[in-house]
Amino acid sequence: IRQDYDEVSDWVAHYVKERINQFQPSEERPFVLGLPSGSSPVGCYERLSNFCKSGQLSFKHVVTFSMDEYVGLPREHSQSYYSFLWKHLYQHVDILKENINILDGNAPDLDEECRRYEAAIVKVGGIELFLGGIGPDGHIAFNEPGSSLTSRTRVKTLAYETIIANSRFFDGEVSKVPKLALTVGVATVMDAREVCIIIVGAHKSVALAKCVEEGVNHMCTVSAIQLHPKGLIVCDEDTTLEL
Ligand code: GLP
Repeated sequence: IRQDYDEVSDWVAHYVKERINQFQPSEERPFVLGLPSGSSPVGCYERLSNFCKSGQLSFKHVVTFSMDEYVGLPREHSQSYYSFLWKHLYQHVDILKENINILDGNAPDLDEECRRYEAAIVKVGGIELFLGGIGPDGHIAFNEPGSSLTSRTRVKTLAYETIIANSRFFDGEVSKVPKLALTVGVATVMDAREVCIIIVGAHKSVALAKCVEEGVNHMCTVSAIQLHPKGLIVCDEDTTLEL
């Protein structure tokens, strides 16, 4: 628990930097990092970008997999998660283009795209550290309430609450928010050797309480982290209101 958003971002960014630097990645043995979109990780991405600029960190041997993507939104759309990650992270760090993995929400065969993604994760030896964020209902990536805790990467219909929550990024217009998304599954995230979830803001306090104080439950998919041997939640004081 940190005081506020800035301190949460500082903590997570330092943690990621240390993990990558301690790992000493190379071409033969890259560091595989899972990444979320959404506003929660923005402060962390800003700090990681600054570490790269000042030479304290390199993404040269880091392979990334992002968590999710809207279906049917052009990549160039400002709200696609592709644009988001380029804007907030990739354009500022020395990552190699071929090391960036993003789900393609415009692939001609979406199921095949999901299978390809899972296979790509296996091919690099699995994910070392999966960073994540959650929705106010406790969903991780786009694993909406009711998603199986053994789910893998797949097409998902968004919950109405998520569509409303994310309409703030689409001029406040619910009709502009895509209704489908591609998302890694709960099990895809939990298969990572380490999982670190950023949860900030009073509006997520109920979700945090459900996640850590209630049982593991598919109605609050982030609660699966309770079963992870190396699961970590970084939150601010406001988020602890309901604990
Ligand atoms: C969306 C994304 C999630 C993200 C969540 C929270 O639903 N699919 O991956 O964690 O939003 O976003 P924010 O951090 O902006 O609250």
